[in-house]
Amino acid sequence: MNTDHFVLYENIKQCVTLAGVAKNSGRHPKEADLGVISDAAVVVNNQTNRIEWIGKNAELPTEFGDLAARFSCEEEVWLPELIECHTHLIYAGTRHHDFALRCLGKTYQQIASEGGGILSTLTHTRKASPGELLESASSELEHFQKYGVGTIEIKSGYGLSLESELRILKCIQELQHHTSVLLAPTFMPAHATPPEFKGQTDEYVKLICKEWIPEVAKNKLAVFFDAFVEEGYFSVEQARTMCEAALASGLKLKLHVDQFTNLGGASLAVDMGAISCDHLDNVGRESIQKLAESKTVAVLLPGASLFTGTPYPPARNLIDAGAIVALSTDYNPGTCPTRNLPLMTTIACCQMGMTIAESIAGITYNAAAALGLQKELGSLEMGKNFRVCQLKADSYEVLPYCFGELE
Ligand code: NIG
Ligand code: FE
Repeated sequence: MNTDHFVLYENIKQCVTLAGVAKNSGRHPKEADLGVISDAAVVVNNQTNRIEWIGKNAELPTEFGDLAARFSCEEEVWLPELIECHTHLIYAGTRHHDFALRCLGKTYQQIASEGGGILSTLTHTRKASPGELLESASSELEHFQKYGVGTIEIKSGYGLSLESELRILKCIQELQHHTSVLLAPTFMPAHATPPEFKGQTDEYVKLICKEWIPEVAKNKLAVFFDAFVEEGYFSVEQARTMCEAALASGLKLKLHVDQFTNLGGASLAVDMGAISCDHLDNVGRESIQKLAESKTVAVLLPGASLFTGTPYPPARNLIDAGAIVALSTDYNPGTCPTRNLPLMTTIACCQMGMTIAESIAGITYNAAAALGLQKELGSLEMGKNFRVCQLKADSYEVLPYCFGELE
């Protein structure tokens, strides 16, 4: 075997492989499924950036024993890179006043109907130049990287005109040229009805289906399509129409569902074969069962519940039923302005009854599954991409324990 391009990382204190989580496709993650190897070694093919071998130091095959390129990592705990599977990273302006109003007792929907909410961010975002959007997005991305994130999903949805939505998607495309973080772009024109279509949401939906989706798909500006299925935003029927158009154009589906109201959005997501459905704070029992029997990943967003003061999603019921559960920040200016993905594991463990194993699966393998990338990413196994999160720690347990203050 030609080992010229191989690199050996040895004496890794703890390597969290998630091999068992991958084997069970992310369902019912148990501590043993984390596949923790202590005193581990990893051999990487630098040309393909794939893992050639992984195991205990003591069991390193002899052909890798005298590799010249080698690094000793005795102070480190390794996990697969963290994967952020739901963000609204590209926007302009701030929403601290929405927060101030919530502290006075107003709800998200009240604030939106009184001039705050998504449409107030839209006003600022439409005015921002491509350069301004790119600069702010690059700086946000650096924050995510500091928290161990190596792959991130980014949605459009604060432009809501074709020109402005395309500007946001092109910003994501441009951003990819400036970063080693892998970006997964999502087209989300159905985030709210824009002011030009006030009271004419059906007309807006028709335009999205007939003109915008084909344009975005033709120019390969997005992998996913997303819609906010919620009272006062888009109905299940409107979402279904858009999902059909998106699938016909070759986009995959993600949906915001059952956040404030149980409209049956999760059930629609399963019926449409969505890769994920997200939020689920008010998901119903029947939909939980449907999700459990499907491959649609349930993406839970604890930070959004914390920040809007609304109930947490029923993580235990979903996991116990057999659903594939991922965690994400939902980073956006209105309902969750944090880039701290590890902090989501703390909230999930302390407020939603999740175990450490479930929460770690939620930001690695299951988050990869929420982007359809689980064959390449999300676990450290032979043949998979070498993308790791290296912690200076003595156990992976510090990840939820450190309360977001990851070293
Ligand atoms: O995922 N729920 C809809 N969209 C965002 C909030 C966007 C905003 O308020 O600006 C979310 O929470
Ligand atoms: Fe969101």
